[in-house]
Amino acid sequence: MKIVVLTGAGISAESGLSTFRDPDGEWMQTDPMKLATPEGFAADPVLVHNFYNARRAQLREVEPNAAHFALARLERALGDDLTLVTQNVDDLHERGGSRHAVHMHGELRRAWCRACDTRMAWDEDLTLATTCPACGEAGHMRPDIVWFGEMPYRMDEILHALERCDMFVAAGTSGAVYPAAGFVELAADAGAETLELNLQRSETTQLFDDHRHAPATENLPAFVDEVIGKA
Ligand code: APR
Repeated sequence: MKIVVLTGAGISAESGLSTFRDPDGEWMQTDPMKLATPEGFAADPVLVHNFYNARRAQLREVEPNAAHFALARLERALGDDLTLVTQNVDDLHERGGSRHAVHMHGELRRAWCRACDTRMAWDEDLTLATTCPACGEAGHMRPDIVWFGEMPYRMDEILHALERCDMFVAAGTSGAVYPAAGFVELAADAGAETLELNLQRSETTQLFDDHRHAPATENLPAFVDEVIGKA
């Protein structure tokens, strides 16, 4: 059985990372257009660097939760029959044991030099003075994060998996941002069964065959037990 799982910020909420659109979410405190667009970065790179430096540093204080561990267990059981796509830029899937998470919105722990186009692992703060280790240029480094208006990563691979899956599961996402919010329809058009595992109704709940509303740390382990039990 081929499964595509799409995760969003709700998967990491119980690890202590805030989501974006919940009442205490990131985008409730600050304007996403200032922090998560190329225009915002051009207008105030220091503000944007500080925002991502704080989120990168916060990763060192949080731990993966039962939802991350369950998805790693599912990967060990299904192997290549599982495609885990995440909108999250944290590293909790990896630290929970997943080895092949597809980060369609990039990763906090990677940087991108706009002078030489090199992308690289990055754990420290980024500033305007940061020098690219590949080309030696300073002032051209940005977080390797896909901002609004930019093309998500590895879409060919994701669309290929959606066309061939028997089941599509969205977990911890509001269904507010495309193209991820449209994956359920692509999977359904390809004949897949669709399931939403979320804390509450999302913007796309009505597009799913089934939905279970509970915290991710309850929903994901139960779902994985079911799939492995049937495998
Ligand atoms: N368990 C399960 N789901 C939860 C939990 C939890 N403990 N807590 C919150 N949720 C759900 C919320 O109900 C909401 O539907 O997680 C979802 C989080 O939605 P968003 O904050 O919109 O996050 P996400 O869907 O990942 O955002 C998508 O938007 O801002 C951009 O690029 C950013 O990747 C992000 C994209």
